[in-house]
Amino acid sequence: MHTRIVGTEGIAEAVAVLRAGGLVAFPTETVYGLGADATNATACAEIFRVKGRPADNPLILHVSGAADLMALTEGPLPGTAVALTQRFWPGPLTVVVRSNGRIPALVRAGLDTVAVRAPNHPVAQALIRGLRRPVAAPSANRSGRPSPTRAADVLDDLAGRLAIIVDGGMSAAGLESSVVDCTTPQPVLLRPGAIGYERLRETIPTLAMSGSGTLARSPGMKYRHYAPEAPVVWIRSHDERFVRHALAARGPDVVLIAPDGPWAEAGEVKRIIGLGGTLEEAGRRFYAALREADREHPAAIVVVWDATGGMGLAISNRLTKASAEMVVP
Ligand code: TXA
Ligand code: MG
Repeated sequence: MHTRIVGTEGIAEAVAVLRAGGLVAFPTETVYGLGADATNATACAEIFRVKGRPADNPLILHVSGAADLMALTEGPLPGTAVALTQRFWPGPLTVVVRSNGRIPALVRAGLDTVAVRAPNHPVAQALIRGLRRPVAAPSANRSGRPSPTRAADVLDDLAGRLAIIVDGGMSAAGLESSVVDCTTPQPVLLRPGAIGYERLRETIPTLAMSGSGTLARSPGMKYRHYAPEAPVVWIRSHDERFVRHALAARGPDVVLIAPDGPWAEAGEVKRIIGLGGTLEEAGRRFYAALREADREHPAAIVVVWDATGGMGLAISNRLTKASAEMVVP
């Protein structure tokens, strides 16, 4: 199959592909998604196949707004879901609620819940509106790889495996949505994402953090996810002297990914890829930086990162999953 990248002029064609049970990669404000008609089990099975995604990992449903959410859930919406969607939709927030069974079990990986979000991107919104059904879409990367924030990233991972990629430029947030489970009396942040924990707590003061959201030191870290080819070494410190020493121990065959700071000149490396001076900038550039670093085929990709506020927590969470090794003072 030949994969074409089209601009916004291709939206009508993309809707037709979705209607016919095909796959379309499309931009959202977080990362690019690999979409299919969420009510079509055969089409959604193809998402799992194309990505190489394990069948026990459910998909997020993309809708236009709260009315669509109500049509997917059983009984009244939990108050927490109402409050969160009122505050953050359209935007990078996913709520998990009870499923009423309208979405095939395969899409939910057999769970009796659904994860739903209303994206804040004109292309994603046009596709959902055009299909008039929810669009199931995981990130449009091969399973285990960094998420795509540009159409070219999708092409790198999935060329020949789908017909159309709609190019909407680089994703503004660059990190996936924050996922909140609203089915329990105390809601839980299942995946830290583009909306920081502190901001979510302003709306849901009781919001708990799931085990995987915490940053316990886990030396094994066998489960690689969001990961490039080269092993990622995470230096969890912004102490200049510590970073210098840790870098020197690695030798020069590394690509360094780091936010603005003194370590930008911290020794001999193959290449430095900057993450900028703000958390938002770092979020936007993070996945693209991992992909760029891989192109140099270094012995290792060394990432300097030690922030957990705002988007910093999401970056730290992805590093926990992407790293082969963590270096802490
Ligand atoms: O920003 C995003 O959320 C992007 C864009 C494309 O919208 N999508 C995305 O999808 O990140 P994916 O498949 O890469 O991640 C979906 C996450 C997974 O961690 C999955 O386990 C979780 O959502 N999830 C989906 N359905 C769930 C459910 N019913 N209960 C709990 N977690 C669920
Ligand atoms: Mg993903």
